[in-house]
Amino acid sequence: MESQDILSLCRRRGFLWPAYDIYGGLAGFYDYGPLGASLKHNIETQWRKLYVFEEGMQELVCPLIAPEPVFKASGHLDAFADMYVECRGCGESNRADHLAEGLAENPAALSEEELGRVLEEHGVKCPVCGGDITAPRRFNLMFKTTVGAGSSKSGYMRPETAQGMFVNFSQIYRHGREKLPVGAVQLGRAFRNEISPRQGLVRLREFHQMEAEIFFHPERKTWPRYNAVKDRTLPLVPDGGVAAELSLSDAVSSKTIANEALAYFMWLTHRFALDVGLDPKRLRLRQHERNEMAHYALDCWDLEAETTYGWIELVGIADRGCYDVQAHLKHSGADLTAFERFDEPKEVVREAVTPKFDVMGKLFKGDTKALAGKLSEMMPDAVRGRDEVVVEVDEKKFASPSSCYDIVTSTEKVSGEKFVPHVIEPSYGVDRILYAVLEHAYHEEDDYVTLSLKSSVAPIKVGVFPLMAKDGLEVTAKELSESLSSDGIHAHYDESGSIGRRYARMDEVGTPCCVTVDYQTIEDGTVTVRNRDTKEQVRIGKDEVVPTVRGIVEGGNIEA
Ligand code: ATP
Ligand code: GLY
Repeated sequence: MESQDILSLCRRRGFLWPAYDIYGGLAGFYDYGPLGASLKHNIETQWRKLYVFEEGMQELVCPLIAPEPVFKASGHLDAFADMYVECRGCGESNRADHLAEGLAENPAALSEEELGRVLEEHGVKCPVCGGDITAPRRFNLMFKTTVGAGSSKSGYMRPETAQGMFVNFSQIYRHGREKLPVGAVQLGRAFRNEISPRQGLVRLREFHQMEAEIFFHPERKTWPRYNAVKDRTLPLVPDGGVAAELSLSDAVSSKTIANEALAYFMWLTHRFALDVGLDPKRLRLRQHERNEMAHYALDCWDLEAETTYGWIELVGIADRGCYDVQAHLKHSGADLTAFERFDEPKEVVREAVTPKFDVMGKLFKGDTKALAGKLSEMMPDAVRGRDEVVVEVDEKKFASPSSCYDIVTSTEKVSGEKFVPHVIEPSYGVDRILYAVLEHAYHEEDDYVTLSLKSSVAPIKVGVFPLMAKDGLEVTAKELSESLSSDGIHAHYDESGSIGRRYARMDEVGTPCCVTVDYQTIEDGTVTVRNRDTKEQVRIGKDEVVPTVRGIVEGGNIEA
């Protein structure tokens, strides 16, 4: 099987195809057709079932465009870049680190100069035409836009859904009754101006993520349901270690996985992968190498699936420490902390930003009072070490030099402590998961293609056919199809072509079962139900069709 087999099946049967095809397409953009949209929706539903219904996380829907300060704070503006080289002959761009794969250890971690040296020493040429290539250059992957008419305000298409949740920590915390751990999720589009998107759904410029940001007390990274699953095993490939099936508790106690919460969400991710029908023999959880991990990450694992593109990352699961919330706290000045009440009040040393009215009065005259109020609300970490801070009052911005305030230390009796929460983030790519689901379900024998999709994700749940489109068989079949549809089961009525061709069309798009109305139906009111995978047929009464198909959709088997 080649990835082309999957992609041509997808195009032929209406799962997906390259977008803007009639204008020659646009690399890195795909349209989902009716079956693909339904498959994607079903995968997302399985995910919501776990994260929103079972784990009780809060779902947010945030804008796709965010203003520049968000990405200044998150680090995307300065560091969300890949290196590329251009061919001096054909002009094609390629990821410089991809061309250096196998020529240096972790090329993505090298500087432009180091990577340039590696490519030159090995005489690397353009993979498309064999021409000479330029030196590597850095390219920020965010799509930039402007917000408002004639505006100078820059906005960016979000490269991940995550930032919407970090900037909303206070809302999430409040809505979660100010208790930790608390989780938020977001499903939606993300945009990255990838340098060479040539791998179908694996590398898109506009794609779909399902992300969870779970906020913890820094010293209590566990999850209420951890104990229930701690003896289950996972296929782990630890950094520098050997691949092994380890139980969650063994992996945590041997420090293979950094903490119980991370282990739990790795387990949940693996469970989700099985729920959507990925082949357990072609899944693994690989730990990031030290120099592959973001500098702030405390531990990071990828759920990878084996496909015709090799092992590809479907989900990244990281302990991001307090990096994200701390960064937004620092840049926005907002109080993005959590609070924990002590059993007994304690004496603590406190820091506060304290305005110096005498200095401010000379600089800001009548605006001093309002400005001082804003300054004293800021967190010390947001002003520490800076020459000045910009404060906005009534839509006017004031640059307050550090001579305008002190960070004053005092001792107080307090009932609890404020702290910046740590975050564990499972980040799922829907399109890659959908592609891997299709590949793992694809079987071809003597030119006959069956997609063995799990019934929970199959776009069509049941095909309904009259053996012949006459003698009233078609009327009964249509009635059955309608009663399935009105019960919320996606049924597909088909009366064209031979019955064999109709079964084949359903097998090719992964429909778990087909119901056929034949001449015996007129005599005794029974129909046949055919199982996609075993090809077995059983006869059941017409009245049993809806509950039987519902049982199959919900994961049961056809009872003879
Ligand atoms: P890669 O190293 O393959 O570029 P990544 O490490 O940049 O992936 P993350 O930033 O961790 O990926 O993004 C989280 C998830 O979003 C990934 O696991 C993947 O499923 C998905 N994803 C990221 N980039 C793309 C893309 N260009 N096209 C499709 N899905 C993507
Ligand atoms: N939020 C993780 C990522 O998309 O990179």
